Amino acid sequence: MKLPMKPDLTNRVAVVTGGAGVLCSQFCRALAACGAKVAVLGRTADKVEALAAEIRAEGGEAMGLCADVTDREGLKAACAKLKSVWGPCEILVNGAGATGPTPLLTMNFSRWRPWTTPRKRAFSI
Ligand SMILES: NC(=O)c1ccc[n+]([C@@H]2O[C@H](COP(=O)([O-])OP(=O)(O)OC[C@H]3O[C@@H](n4cnc5c(N)ncnc54)[C@H](OP(=O)(O)O)[C@@H]3O)[C@@H](O)[C@H]2O)c1
Repeated sequence: MKLPMKPDLTNRVAVVTGGAGVLCSQFCRALAACGAKVAVLGRTADKVEALAAEIRAEGGEAMGLCADVTDREGLKAACAKLKSVWGPCEILVNGAGATGPTPLLTMNFSRWRPWTTPRKRAFSI
C-alpha cells in the first residue's frame, strides 16, 4: 500500500475492531504497511481471516481475531489470544459498528445505541 506518510510502527501491536469492514480494512492495510502487527477483529471468522491472509501475502504481519466487542467474555478471550502471541495491544482503532443513513431529526435512542455501543465496549481491549 502506498502512503503519503509512513510512521515507523515496526513490531507495534495494533487491534482494529471492525477490521474487515469498508473503512477499517484500509486502516489494517495502512498499519501493516507501516510495520505494525495487525489483529483484524470482527464477528465473522471468514472475513477477518481472509483479510489477515491478504496482508500476510503482501508481506505484512496480521492475524484474524474473532470476537463480538459487545460480548465481554468473548473479547477477553480474544485479548488473551492476542497477548499470548504478540503481547499487549498498543494501538486501538475502534471501528466496529454499523452505518445506516438516518436523517438527524428522525434519529432516536434505539437507533443510536447499536452504532455507539460497540465502540464504547471495545475499549476493554
Ligand atoms: N462509512 C462511512 O461513511 C462512515 C462514516 C462515519 C462513521 N463510520 C463508522 O465507521 C465504522 C466503520 O464503518 P464502515 O462503513 O467501514 O462499516 P462496515 O463496512 O459495516 O464495517 C463494520 C465492521 O464492524 C464489524 N462489527 C460490527 N459490529 C461488531 C461487533 N459488535 N463486534 C465486532 N465487530 C463488529 C463488522 O463485521 P462483522 O459483522 O463480521 O462483525 C464489519 O466488518 C462504523 O463504526 C461506522 O459507524 C462510517
